[in-house]
Amino acid sequence: SITKNMSANNFPTLKNDRILKAAKGEKPDKLPIWIMRQAGRYLPEFMEFRKQHSFFEICQTPSLACEVTLMPIKRYDLDAAIIFSDILVIPQALGMIVEMRPGVGPVLPEPLTLENLKELNKEGAVSRLQYVGEAITLTRHKLEGKVPLFGFSGAPWTLMGYMIEGGGSKTLSKAKKWLYAYPEISHQLLELLTNVITDYLVMQIQAGAQIIQVFDSSAEYLNRHLYAKFCLPYLKKIASGIREKSTALNLEQVPLILFAKGAHFSLAEQADLGYDVLGIDWTMNPNHVRSTLKNKNITVQGNLDPCALYAPKEELAQMVKDMVKSFGTERYIVNLGHGIYPDAPTEAVQTFIDAVHSIPL
Ligand code: CP3
Repeated sequence: SITKNMSANNFPTLKNDRILKAAKGEKPDKLPIWIMRQAGRYLPEFMEFRKQHSFFEICQTPSLACEVTLMPIKRYDLDAAIIFSDILVIPQALGMIVEMRPGVGPVLPEPLTLENLKELNKEGAVSRLQYVGEAITLTRHKLEGKVPLFGFSGAPWTLMGYMIEGGGSKTLSKAKKWLYAYPEISHQLLELLTNVITDYLVMQIQAGAQIIQVFDSSAEYLNRHLYAKFCLPYLKKIASGIREKSTALNLEQVPLILFAKGAHFSLAEQADLGYDVLGIDWTMNPNHVRSTLKNKNITVQGNLDPCALYAPKEELAQMVKDMVKSFGTERYIVNLGHGIYPDAPTEAVQTFIDAVHSIPL
């Protein structure tokens, strides 16, 4: 556990606030960049580390999670760190079994059914996730103020999807069936997840997270109607819940990012949920994004195609310049439009970062 001189109230002074500034609509000295899944399998040092430790052992051991969180920060000039964890720690804390199978991904061998739904153990779920808070507090100290630290969670719908499907799915047809066939039960489940997610994220902020991203990675399986009915209200409730609980606990208001992957059908509505930043997936046209969000007072983040990292160096640098030109340099955080691939070349990440930081503001 964390010692007295590494508590959540004596953190080192932050030296790089580019992301926080961009999130709030202020002008940073350079365009900020971080990369979704930046602490992952494309890093040879992570692959070495994984030979010694299982995935959830790393997640659940603050010193190990901290070490992996720092790996990309040691290697690159990134403008943020993101705590090493997974969105599926919430279903785990609710009592579900989650396995990380090599070459397969996450598997939940006993998925949620109408029959076992009431066995979800929400009482004390956030206290069972306290290890994430400890990892955050430790990492804030070990970062020595170099860059801000992200906390994160999966969104209610994305977690519901994994819990019902029992893992990844090409269609999410089982989880979507619940939305159409059992809307009331679906709302109860989404409400339960919303409450746990809100308290979990407040706990992360209390532990030292300086900015939060909510991953709605499975938004792309829904349409405008389903997203409005089963997602937007809960996403809004998470943002307002975090704001209210932060105020009550005397915590600073941290920037909130929503990444609703593939939810192009509801981009304008996403801007009205109380988030400071919207993550934009790689399929979206930056000009369309900016015109849709005109007058919305919101920062955007994204959206280079993760596959662009395989392009020749000069072409990659040019694509970055073109992307920044289309988005403009105001209220903008550079990122990929989804997570980095496990076999992305490490040199391309350097090229990406250098191309972003060399753009004059
Ligand atoms: O570097 C970081 O971004 C922080 C750590 C992080 C992980 N997962 C570690 C991880 C974050 C932010 C996540 C989020 C996550 N997890 C999402 C949302 C982002 C997205 O990509 O849409 C989702 C859908 C998951 C669920 C999940 N975890 C899947 C589908 C997989 C398998 C596919 C894959 O990309 O590996 C995981 C495994 C996972 N999560 C790994 C890592 C480093 C690799 C597993 C391993 O090391 O064996």
